[in-house]
Amino acid sequence: FPPPPPEPIKDPWLKLVNDRAHPWRPLRRGDVRGPCPGLNTLASHGYLPRDGVATPAQIITAVQEGFNMEYGIATFVTYAAHLVDGNPLTNLISIGGKTRKTGPDPPPPAIVGGLNTHAVFEGDASMTRGDFHLGDNFNFNQTLWEQFKDYSNRYGGGRYNLTAAAELRWARIQQSMATNGQFDFTSPRYFTAYAESVFPINFFTDGRLFTSNTTAPGPDMDSALSFFRDHRYPKDFHRAPVPSGARGLDVVAAAYPIQPGYNADGKVNNYVLDPTSADFTKFCLLYENFVLKTVKGLYPNPKGFLRKALETNLEYFYQSFPGSGGCPQVFPWGKS
Ligand code: HEM
Ligand code: MG
Repeated sequence: FPPPPPEPIKDPWLKLVNDRAHPWRPLRRGDVRGPCPGLNTLASHGYLPRDGVATPAQIITAVQEGFNMEYGIATFVTYAAHLVDGNPLTNLISIGGKTRKTGPDPPPPAIVGGLNTHAVFEGDASMTRGDFHLGDNFNFNQTLWEQFKDYSNRYGGGRYNLTAAAELRWARIQQSMATNGQFDFTSPRYFTAYAESVFPINFFTDGRLFTSNTTAPGPDMDSALSFFRDHRYPKDFHRAPVPSGARGLDVVAAAYPIQPGYNADGKVNNYVLDPTSADFTKFCLLYENFVLKTVKGLYPNPKGFLRKALETNLEYFYQSFPGSGGCPQVFPWGKS
């Protein structure tokens, strides 16, 4: 209880992943999908349980097998999500909305709402999903897709490449500023927004198209649509040739630098900076604020088995944090 993360996969290289053992299947009644096209695809091909409810270990293994996601980032992102969106008592998380399949909940203010839950992990200015306060933060949005395509055509010659990613990231930030009075672009969303901007390049490009182990041209529009809308691998899809993560994030972030902030007083076009938020120069604060504010906010005073489970998951989370060597570990309820 809760078990440690699994070992890294033993064969992290180019491989056909849309194979006969992992056929795409349409959703059945009760299956959940959510805001992450990567996890949605893994569930619809059976790399994850097809109902969309999984353990952290299943997710960590699936993103490596299905996309060659680098082990460290896979573990870090998965425990982050599990701590705020999953059920520590049953060790299950929904990749979409709240469901009884994750078992009996811990007491409020814990949410256990799955990845759809706004503001703890999921956030504003997504590429193909709308802002929570504008109505729907997890379903594929056709209008946003048209924009994704338009930017890829204009800046990437029909592919979603780094140039298109940088332009679209900035456009989505500006749109949220101008239309969402509740727009929030503080940590952790500040980081995940830039990371997710490059994920389609690093993970949705067929591994055979990479021109070096670390250079991907980006997906064409048929492939991108297949992932974003249909949670489906293109025919014969091969995963990335080497373990990959947020490569290119620095390029996207540097194209249009902006500090973390939010629209104040619920007013559009009223972006104010938040100096208490982590940013790229205050990386330890990403970990610290996530644990001491976000996780502790959901679990102010856990007892017994619940506390033990949370502390165990927090330990796995800290161990996987890329800066753990240089960042002090924090203990939200003291050391037990
Ligand atoms: C978005 C979770 C792995 C691709 C998201 C979001 C969540 C999430 C909560 C919504 C954030 C938002 O846009 O507001 C996770 C977790 C993972 C994981 C827990 C476990 C390791 C992956 C992988 C890929 C991927 C392996 C690619 C193969 C994306 C993309 C978006 C996204 C492209 C942005 C969607 C958009 O902006 O329209 N993910 N993800 N994720 N994820 Fe994942
Ligand atoms: Mg979002």
